[in-house]
Amino acid sequence: MRVTIFGATGLLGQPLMHVWDHDEVHGFGSKQADIRDPRQIAEAIGSTPPDWIVLAAAYTDVDGCETNRELAEAVNTGGATNVAEAAKQSGARLLFVSTDYVFDGTKGTPYETDDPRAPRSAYGRSKAQAEVRIAEILPDSCIVRTSWLFGVSGRCFPDTILKLAASRASIDVVDDQHGSPTYAPDLALAISQLCRRQARGIVHATNRGACTWFEFARQVVAAAELPTVVRPTTSDKFVRPAERPKYSVLSPKSLEAYKVVLPTWQDGLARYMQERKSAK
Ligand SMILES: NC(=O)c1ccc[n+]([C@@H]2O[C@H](COP(=O)([O-])OP(=O)(O)OC[C@H]3O[C@@H](n4cnc5c(N)ncnc54)[C@H](OP(=O)(O)O)[C@@H]3O)[C@@H](O)[C@H]2O)c1
Repeated sequence: MRVTIFGATGLLGQPLMHVWDHDEVHGFGSKQADIRDPRQIAEAIGSTPPDWIVLAAAYTDVDGCETNRELAEAVNTGGATNVAEAAKQSGARLLFVSTDYVFDGTKGTPYETDDPRAPRSAYGRSKAQAEVRIAEILPDSCIVRTSWLFGVSGRCFPDTILKLAASRASIDVVDDQHGSPTYAPDLALAISQLCRRQARGIVHATNRGACTWFEFARQVVAAAELPTVVRPTTSDKFVRPAERPKYSVLSPKSLEAYKVVLPTWQDGLARYMQERKSAK
């Protein structure tokens, strides 16, 4: 199989470069191919079309998107639309990585793939619009929504918590947002399996289980055997530019339909801690 990855330098993109066996894989970061420019996309794809294009490139700074809305739209909607057009022209299948932030977080039970999109942030809106455009351009594309990514290949929540915990006796973390932490290498593997199984439509892919950011932080600190006390707080005491969904757990049914099962987030966290240790 030939695979082209946009966003190959990111938190997800780096492990995504290493999960394919016997496949020809080409990866691009923003410096090699800016997805806002159709010519750069065409050059990256080249004259021999790939079987799959995996689009993991995005402007992912959720608070930054709130103040740089034009950039959010240009990269996350415009760039994604350009890649979908290029995939259509070249005859490649497209897998687009999307987010739990397309939901408003009011449901209270795991979101199914056909629940209505109702994003509450500029980032969520830019990704939701991309989903709609991609499905119009390429009805057989695969849209993989994920959540709360972490890994050694980029900035992530456990890394922030470990750095804070190293210098503080206590840290306050919000306990009123629920989601599923997802270890980037686990998602990368699931994406490669979905491509191999010719997946189409919307698929929800996260590590199994759910927690709040507070519970996640507590597990991170415990795993590192640090004495720091993690205390629960609420979102109204920790106001940020972008509103986050209060509950964005994604149902695994659509993933299981392709016989792909991800480990629990606690299992992913244990492997992250190990990988972090050996990277030092
Ligand atoms: N992180 C999360 O918690 C999370 C949760 C749900 C969904 N997602 C989705 O998962 C995907 C991967 O996220 P991530 O956390 O791996 O992101 P990331 O670490 O921020 O990496 C973003 C990637 O996109 C590339 N990129 C940014 N702007 C670009 C542009 N204009 N043209 C081409 N490439 C561009 C970056 O390239 P350079 O580094 O070379 O600039 C980098 O490779 C994204 O679609 C994101 O929306 C992420």
